[in-house]
Amino acid sequence: MGFPITRMRRLRTSEAIRRLVRDTSLSRDDLVYPLFVCPGNSVREPITSLTGCFHLSPDEAAKEARAIADAGIPAVLLFGLPERKDAEGSSAWTGDPVVCQAIRQIKKAAPELAVITDVCLCAYTDHGHCGLLQNGRVDNDSSLEALSKMALCHARAGADIVAPSDMMDGRVLWIRRVLDAEGFKDTAILSYSAKFASAFYGPFRDAACSAPSFGDRRSYQMDSASARQAMREIELDIEEGADIVMIKPAMAYLDMIHQVRQRFDVPLAAYHVSGEYMMIKAAAEKGLLDGRQAMIETLTAIKRAGADFIITYFAKEAAEAMDQ
Ligand code: PBG
Repeated sequence: MGFPITRMRRLRTSEAIRRLVRDTSLSRDDLVYPLFVCPGNSVREPITSLTGCFHLSPDEAAKEARAIADAGIPAVLLFGLPERKDAEGSSAWTGDPVVCQAIRQIKKAAPELAVITDVCLCAYTDHGHCGLLQNGRVDNDSSLEALSKMALCHARAGADIVAPSDMMDGRVLWIRRVLDAEGFKDTAILSYSAKFASAFYGPFRDAACSAPSFGDRRSYQMDSASARQAMREIELDIEEGADIVMIKPAMAYLDMIHQVRQRFDVPLAAYHVSGEYMMIKAAAEKGLLDGRQAMIETLTAIKRAGADFIITYFAKEAAEAMDQ
Protein backbone atom coordinates (compact mmCIF):
# COMPACT_ATOMS: atom_id res chain seq x y z
CA MET A 1 0.00 0.00 0.00
CA GLY A 2 1.49 3.28 -1.09
CA PHE A 3 0.85 6.96 -0.77
CA PRO A 4 -1.35 8.56 0.56
CA ILE A 5 -2.18 5.71 3.00
CA THR A 6 1.47 5.13 3.67
CA ARG A 7 3.42 8.18 4.79
CA MET A 8 6.91 7.35 5.94
CA ARG A 9 7.30 10.77 7.50
CA ARG A 10 4.67 9.97 10.21
CA LEU A 11 7.31 8.10 12.18
CA ARG A 12 9.73 11.00 11.90
CA THR A 13 7.54 13.70 13.38
CA SER A 14 9.18 13.83 16.81
CA GLU A 15 12.39 12.74 18.48
CA ALA A 16 10.32 10.56 20.83
CA ILE A 17 8.83 8.59 17.94
CA ARG A 18 12.16 8.41 16.14
CA ARG A 19 13.65 6.95 19.30
CA LEU A 20 10.89 4.35 19.57
CA VAL A 21 11.25 2.98 16.07
CA ARG A 22 14.99 3.01 15.52
CA ASP A 23 16.61 -0.40 15.17
CA THR A 24 20.24 0.44 15.94
CA SER A 25 21.48 1.62 19.28
CA LEU A 26 24.81 2.95 20.38
CA SER A 27 25.70 2.68 24.04
CA ARG A 28 28.68 2.94 26.33
CA ASP A 29 28.76 -0.87 26.31
CA ASP A 30 29.95 -0.71 22.71
CA LEU A 31 33.08 1.33 23.31
CA VAL A 32 36.75 0.57 23.87
CA TYR A 33 39.21 3.41 24.46
CA PRO A 34 42.83 3.08 23.26
CA LEU A 35 45.62 4.33 25.56
CA PHE A 36 49.27 4.97 24.69
CA VAL A 37 51.57 4.07 27.56
CA CYS A 38 55.07 5.56 27.75
CA PRO A 39 57.89 5.20 30.29
CA GLY A 40 58.21 7.51 33.28
CA ASN A 41 56.11 9.00 36.03
CA SER A 42 53.46 11.72 35.92
CA VAL A 43 53.76 11.97 32.14
CA ARG A 44 50.67 13.25 30.31
CA GLU A 45 51.85 14.58 26.93
CA PRO A 46 49.31 15.54 24.28
CA ILE A 47 49.77 13.54 21.07
CA THR A 48 49.92 16.09 18.28
CA SER A 49 48.77 13.70 15.55
CA LEU A 50 45.77 12.51 17.61
CA THR A 51 43.76 15.41 18.99
CA GLY A 52 42.54 14.76 22.53
CA CYS A 53 44.83 11.74 23.15
CA PHE A 54 47.91 11.58 25.37
CA HIS A 55 51.10 9.67 25.95
CA LEU A 56 50.62 8.47 29.52
CA SER A 57 53.08 6.98 31.99
CA PRO A 58 51.68 3.91 33.82
CA ASP A 59 50.52 5.97 36.84
CA GLU A 60 48.73 8.46 34.57
CA ALA A 61 47.26 5.60 32.52
CA ALA A 62 45.77 4.28 35.76
CA LYS A 63 44.18 7.67 36.50
CA GLU A 64 42.83 7.84 32.99
CA ALA A 65 41.48 4.31 33.32
CA ARG A 66 39.62 5.31 36.48
CA ALA A 67 37.97 8.19 34.58
CA ILE A 68 37.11 5.87 31.70
CA ALA A 69 35.49 3.35 34.05
CA ASP A 70 33.57 6.18 35.71
CA ALA A 71 32.31 7.24 32.28
CA GLY A 72 30.79 3.75 31.97
CA ILE A 73 33.15 2.51 29.25
CA PRO A 74 33.85 -1.23 29.72
CA ALA A 75 37.37 -1.58 28.31
CA VAL A 76 40.68 -0.02 27.33
CA LEU A 77 43.16 -1.15 24.67
CA LEU A 78 46.81 -0.57 25.59
CA PHE A 79 49.69 0.30 23.28
CA GLY A 80 53.25 0.64 24.57
CA LEU A 81 56.07 2.98 23.63
CA PRO A 82 59.25 1.25 24.78
CA GLU A 83 62.42 2.91 26.04
CA ARG A 84 64.56 1.03 23.55
CA LYS A 85 64.10 -0.76 20.24
CA ASP A 86 66.12 -3.58 18.68
CA ALA A 87 65.86 -5.92 15.69
CA GLU A 88 63.86 -8.51 17.67
CA GLY A 89 61.59 -6.12 19.52
CA SER A 90 62.78 -7.80 22.71
CA SER A 91 61.69 -4.92 24.97
CA ALA A 92 58.13 -6.10 24.27
CA TRP A 93 58.57 -9.04 26.65
CA THR A 94 61.81 -8.58 28.63
CA GLY A 95 62.28 -6.63 31.84
CA ASP A 96 59.03 -5.08 32.96
CA PRO A 97 57.52 -3.49 29.84
CA VAL A 98 55.53 -0.28 30.37
CA VAL A 99 52.38 -2.00 29.16
CA CYS A 100 52.74 -4.57 31.95
CA GLN A 101 53.32 -1.85 34.54
CA ALA A 102 50.22 -0.08 33.26
CA ILE A 103 48.11 -3.26 33.37
CA ARG A 104 48.92 -3.77 37.04
CA GLN A 105 48.24 -0.15 37.98
CA ILE A 106 45.02 0.00 35.95
CA LYS A 107 43.79 -3.20 37.60
CA LYS A 108 44.30 -1.55 40.99
CA ALA A 109 42.69 1.76 40.05
CA ALA A 110 39.80 0.35 38.02
CA PRO A 111 39.30 -3.36 38.71
CA GLU A 112 35.98 -3.43 36.86
CA LEU A 113 37.59 -2.35 33.58
CA ALA A 114 38.55 -5.00 31.01
CA VAL A 115 42.15 -4.56 29.92
CA ILE A 116 42.94 -5.46 26.33
CA THR A 117 46.53 -5.25 25.07
CA ASP A 118 47.76 -4.81 21.52
CA VAL A 119 50.24 -7.56 20.66
CA CYS A 120 52.51 -6.48 17.83
CA LEU A 121 56.22 -5.81 17.40
CA CYS A 122 56.14 -2.66 15.25
CA ALA A 123 56.59 -0.21 18.13
CA TYR A 124 59.43 -2.35 19.56
CA THR A 125 61.53 -3.21 16.50
CA ASP A 126 64.14 -0.75 15.24
CA HIS A 127 62.95 -1.41 11.66
CA GLY A 128 59.32 -0.75 12.57
CA HIS A 129 57.89 -3.92 11.01
CA CYS A 130 55.33 -6.04 12.83
CA GLY A 131 57.44 -9.22 12.68
CA LEU A 132 61.09 -10.27 12.61
CA LEU A 133 63.24 -9.83 9.52
CA GLN A 134 65.10 -12.51 7.64
CA ASN A 135 67.00 -11.48 4.52
CA GLY A 136 65.17 -8.17 4.50
CA ARG A 137 61.72 -9.77 4.55
CA VAL A 138 59.26 -10.12 7.39
CA ASP A 139 59.54 -13.77 8.37
CA ASN A 140 56.33 -15.40 9.51
CA ASP A 141 57.27 -18.40 11.64
CA SER A 142 60.12 -16.87 13.64
CA SER A 143 57.84 -13.95 14.52
CA LEU A 144 55.31 -16.25 16.19
CA GLU A 145 57.55 -17.04 19.11
CA ALA A 146 58.24 -13.36 19.81
CA LEU A 147 54.56 -12.49 19.60
CA SER A 148 53.52 -15.30 21.92
CA LYS A 149 56.18 -14.25 24.47
CA MET A 150 54.74 -10.74 24.36
CA ALA A 151 51.18 -12.01 24.81
CA LEU A 152 52.26 -14.21 27.73
CA CYS A 153 54.00 -11.26 29.37
CA HIS A 154 50.72 -9.27 29.18
CA ALA A 155 48.69 -12.20 30.51
CA ARG A 156 51.06 -12.56 33.46
CA ALA A 157 50.63 -8.88 34.28
CA GLY A 158 46.86 -9.40 34.34
CA ALA A 159 45.55 -8.57 30.85
CA ASP A 160 42.03 -9.92 30.33
CA ILE A 161 42.29 -10.02 26.56
CA VAL A 162 45.33 -10.05 24.26
CA ALA A 163 44.88 -8.64 20.77
CA PRO A 164 47.43 -9.68 18.12
CA SER A 165 47.53 -7.07 15.34
CA ASP A 166 50.59 -8.22 13.38
CA MET A 167 48.79 -10.25 10.66
CA MET A 168 51.27 -13.18 10.74
CA ASP A 169 49.73 -16.54 9.83
CA GLY A 170 49.13 -18.87 12.75
CA ARG A 171 49.65 -16.39 15.56
CA VAL A 172 46.29 -17.02 17.22
CA LEU A 173 47.05 -20.74 17.52
CA TRP A 174 50.58 -20.07 18.84
CA ILE A 175 49.41 -17.57 21.39
CA ARG A 176 46.54 -19.84 22.51
CA ARG A 177 48.95 -22.76 22.99
CA VAL A 178 51.46 -20.72 24.95
CA LEU A 179 48.79 -19.14 27.15
CA ASP A 180 47.21 -22.52 27.88
CA ALA A 181 50.54 -24.17 28.61
CA GLU A 182 51.35 -21.43 31.12
CA GLY A 183 47.99 -21.64 32.88
CA PHE A 184 46.24 -18.68 31.26
CA LYS A 185 43.28 -20.61 29.90
CA ASP A 186 40.89 -17.77 30.63
CA THR A 187 42.87 -15.03 28.93
CA ALA A 188 40.85 -14.31 25.79
CA ILE A 189 42.18 -13.56 22.31
CA LEU A 190 40.76 -10.71 20.26
CA SER A 191 42.28 -11.20 16.85
CA TYR A 192 42.81 -8.34 14.42
CA SER A 193 41.72 -10.95 11.88
CA ALA A 194 41.08 -8.82 8.84
CA LYS A 195 43.41 -5.88 9.15
CA PHE A 196 43.81 -4.10 5.86
CA ALA A 197 46.93 -2.24 4.70
CA SER A 198 45.52 1.25 5.04
CA ALA A 199 46.46 4.90 4.66
CA PHE A 200 44.18 5.60 7.61
CA TYR A 201 46.81 4.40 10.13
CA GLY A 202 48.94 7.50 9.47
CA PRO A 203 48.26 9.44 12.69
CA PHE A 204 48.66 6.30 14.82
CA ARG A 205 52.14 5.58 13.47
CA ASP A 206 53.19 9.03 14.64
CA ALA A 207 51.56 8.44 18.03
CA ALA A 208 53.14 5.00 18.50
CA CYS A 209 56.44 5.77 16.70
CA SER A 210 55.82 2.61 14.70
CA ALA A 211 56.19 3.58 11.05
CA PRO A 212 58.24 1.02 9.07
CA SER A 213 61.75 2.32 8.32
CA PHE A 214 61.63 0.78 4.83
CA GLY A 215 58.95 -0.60 2.54
CA ASP A 216 55.36 -0.99 3.68
CA ARG A 217 53.12 -3.57 5.36
CA ARG A 218 51.50 -4.95 2.22
CA SER A 219 53.19 -8.35 2.49
CA TYR A 220 51.31 -9.08 5.72
CA GLN A 221 48.35 -6.70 6.09
CA MET A 222 45.44 -7.37 3.76
CA ASP A 223 44.83 -5.90 0.35
CA SER A 224 41.87 -3.56 0.57
CA ALA A 225 40.28 -4.98 -2.57
CA SER A 226 40.24 -8.59 -1.30
CA ALA A 227 36.90 -9.21 0.39
CA ARG A 228 36.93 -13.00 0.07
CA GLN A 229 40.37 -13.23 1.70
CA ALA A 230 38.98 -11.35 4.67
CA MET A 231 36.36 -14.08 5.14
CA ARG A 232 39.09 -16.74 5.05
CA GLU A 233 41.18 -14.83 7.58
CA ILE A 234 38.19 -14.67 9.93
CA GLU A 235 37.39 -18.36 9.45
CA LEU A 236 41.00 -19.42 10.12
CA ASP A 237 41.28 -17.27 13.23
CA ILE A 238 38.10 -18.77 14.64
CA GLU A 239 39.50 -22.26 13.96
CA GLU A 240 42.75 -21.29 15.68
CA GLY A 241 40.83 -20.23 18.78
CA ALA A 242 40.09 -16.52 18.47
CA ASP A 243 37.36 -15.56 20.94
CA ILE A 244 36.60 -12.29 19.20
CA VAL A 245 37.48 -11.20 15.67
CA MET A 246 38.05 -7.74 14.29
CA ILE A 247 37.69 -5.77 11.09
CA LYS A 248 40.03 -2.81 10.75
CA PRO A 249 39.66 -0.02 9.65
CA ALA A 250 35.91 0.45 10.07
CA MET A 251 34.43 3.28 8.00
CA ALA A 252 35.88 2.22 4.67
CA TYR A 253 35.11 -1.46 5.45
CA LEU A 254 31.47 -1.43 6.57
CA ASP A 255 30.65 -4.05 3.94
CA MET A 256 33.20 -6.38 5.54
CA ILE A 257 31.64 -5.84 8.96
CA HIS A 258 28.22 -6.62 7.51
CA GLN A 259 29.40 -9.79 5.77
CA VAL A 260 31.19 -11.13 8.83
CA ARG A 261 28.11 -10.51 10.95
CA GLN A 262 25.99 -12.50 8.43
CA ARG A 263 28.42 -15.41 8.21
CA PHE A 264 29.90 -15.94 11.66
CA ASP A 265 28.54 -16.04 15.19
CA VAL A 266 31.61 -14.92 17.14
CA PRO A 267 31.65 -11.44 18.67
CA LEU A 268 32.87 -8.87 16.16
CA ALA A 269 34.94 -5.79 16.93
CA ALA A 270 35.56 -2.89 14.56
CA TYR A 271 38.51 -0.53 14.88
CA HIS A 272 37.61 3.04 14.00
CA VAL A 273 41.21 3.96 13.32
CA SER A 274 43.29 7.08 13.84
CA GLY A 275 42.90 8.52 10.32
CA GLU A 276 39.15 8.00 10.39
CA TYR A 277 39.01 9.81 13.72
CA MET A 278 41.28 12.67 12.64
CA MET A 279 39.35 13.26 9.41
CA ILE A 280 36.32 14.14 11.50
CA LYS A 281 38.36 16.12 14.01
CA ALA A 282 40.12 18.12 11.28
CA ALA A 283 36.90 18.83 9.40
CA ALA A 284 35.17 19.92 12.61
CA GLU A 285 38.10 22.18 13.54
CA LYS A 286 37.77 23.85 10.16
CA GLY A 287 34.08 24.43 10.82
CA LEU A 288 33.13 22.21 7.88
CA LEU A 289 30.83 19.95 9.87
CA ASP A 290 29.44 19.36 13.35
CA GLY A 291 32.04 17.07 14.93
CA ARG A 292 29.72 15.61 17.54
CA GLN A 293 27.02 14.72 15.03
CA ALA A 294 29.58 13.24 12.65
CA MET A 295 30.98 11.16 15.52
CA ILE A 296 27.59 9.73 16.53
CA GLU A 297 26.56 9.13 12.92
CA THR A 298 29.82 7.30 12.21
CA LEU A 299 29.78 5.12 15.31
CA THR A 300 26.10 4.32 14.71
CA ALA A 301 26.92 3.27 11.14
CA ILE A 302 29.58 0.87 12.42
CA LYS A 303 27.05 -0.65 14.84
CA ARG A 304 24.37 -0.78 12.14
CA ALA A 305 26.75 -2.66 9.84
CA GLY A 306 27.02 -5.34 12.53
CA ALA A 307 29.89 -4.64 14.93
CA ASP A 308 29.32 -5.66 18.54
CA PHE A 309 31.78 -3.09 19.78
CA ILE A 310 34.00 -0.32 18.48
CA ILE A 311 37.55 0.59 19.39
CA THR A 312 37.63 4.34 19.00
CA TYR A 313 39.53 7.45 20.09
CA PHE A 314 36.03 8.97 20.36
CA ALA A 315 35.04 6.63 23.21
CA LYS A 316 35.19 9.27 25.96
CA GLU A 317 33.50 11.96 23.87
CA ALA A 318 30.82 9.53 22.73
CA ALA A 319 30.10 8.51 26.32
CA GLU A 320 29.86 12.19 27.23
CA ALA A 321 27.50 12.86 24.34
CA MET A 322 25.27 10.08 25.63
CA ASP A 323 24.85 11.98 28.92
CA GLN A 324 23.17 14.83 27.12
C1 PBG B 1 50.10 -2.14 15.15
C2 PBG B 1 48.86 -1.36 15.03
C3 PBG B 1 48.53 -0.32 14.13
C4 PBG B 1 47.28 0.15 14.52
C5 PBG B 1 46.86 -0.63 15.58
N1 PBG B 1 47.84 -1.58 15.86
C6 PBG B 1 49.34 0.35 13.07
C7 PBG B 1 49.79 -0.35 11.88
O1 PBG B 1 49.40 -1.46 11.56
O2 PBG B 1 50.64 0.26 11.24
C8 PBG B 1 46.54 1.30 13.87
C9 PBG B 1 45.52 1.94 14.73
C10 PBG B 1 45.05 3.26 14.25
O3 PBG B 1 45.39 3.75 13.16
O4 PBG B 1 44.29 3.86 15.02
N2 PBG B 1 50.38 -3.02 14.14
